[in-house]
Amino acid sequence: MAEIKCIGILTSGGDAPGMNAAIRAVTRAGIFSGFAVKGIYRGYRGLITDEIVDFKTQNVSNIIQMGGTILKTARCKEFTTPEGRQLAYDVLKREGIDALVVIGGDGSLTGARIFANEFNFPIVGLPGTIDNDLYGTDKTIGYDTALNTIMQCVDKIRDTATSHERLFFIEVMGRDAGFLALNGAIASGAEAAIIPEISTEVDQLAELIKNGFRKSKNSSIVLVAESPITGGAMGLAERVKNEFPQYDVRVTILGHLQRGGSPTAVDRILASRMGAAAIDALLEDQRNVMIGIANDEIVYVPFSKAIKNEKPINRDLLNTLRRLSI
Ligand code: F6P
Repeated sequence: MAEIKCIGILTSGGDAPGMNAAIRAVTRAGIFSGFAVKGIYRGYRGLITDEIVDFKTQNVSNIIQMGGTILKTARCKEFTTPEGRQLAYDVLKREGIDALVVIGGDGSLTGARIFANEFNFPIVGLPGTIDNDLYGTDKTIGYDTALNTIMQCVDKIRDTATSHERLFFIEVMGRDAGFLALNGAIASGAEAAIIPEISTEVDQLAELIKNGFRKSKNSSIVLVAESPITGGAMGLAERVKNEFPQYDVRVTILGHLQRGGSPTAVDRILASRMGAAAIDALLEDQRNVMIGIANDEIVYVPFSKAIKNEKPINRDLLNTLRRLSI
């Protein structure tokens, strides 16, 4: 295989807390191992338009604690076309970049996989998404911080829910996955989580009402994963208004605040380990793999596995939530 001298880093798709810690780790571990490192701004868009700068260790000073991404990010339509990817490849050649580290979620790693195969170009992916929906890794960068943010928000909403004795549907992000909703519900002591993974098996709202969700309390908090499959918090509130008008329902959609904020220690450590592991992977001639973490060990997950397989929800967690919300 051609020798790698220069590595480009980019962040792509939705930002996630800990992306900066990952950029720092890739840059520093790369320079430590003798590579030149270049930062590519605005994801694949900046790759096509050549928004690239040399990165030294100082470029990543004082960023480990920052949310967002200093490299900016974008969702790039052009990169989904063969013409766009050809332009990106031409820029990489011109810039002398021999390998890429792509930090992003499912869509970004799908793009990386297509590009890597098309041009036989070495790429290592880091799972950067609050959704935690990539197969082959127990955790993604940003998930823990988002979970903590959700927990803090729900703690606040609980005060008013209790005072008014209301039923609250709180919608959280997650794209098509219910990890944030389910674990957010456990962490905040919510009465239930409504998640897409089991929506086709059971009418979760009907179950909730049938089982007397209020139990010993007069207020209830239900975390709802955003998804057309769950109907979202608005959809469920509409149903309650029509089918169970005796309940005083309110909706809160947490939205993009879940993506911001300083990363937790868990995310900083995860991003640092994964960033350094991306350099190890390239040194070991690994290609087209995502760095994952399984049982606290770094693992290499082929892109084809990470993207194509649906990550299953842990059913024990659902059971725990049910048992603790009596
Ligand atoms: O994938 C991360 C994520 O925050 C999802 O949870 C959410 O569905 C989506 O991105 C929102 O994307 P945008 O920032 O483009 O509105």
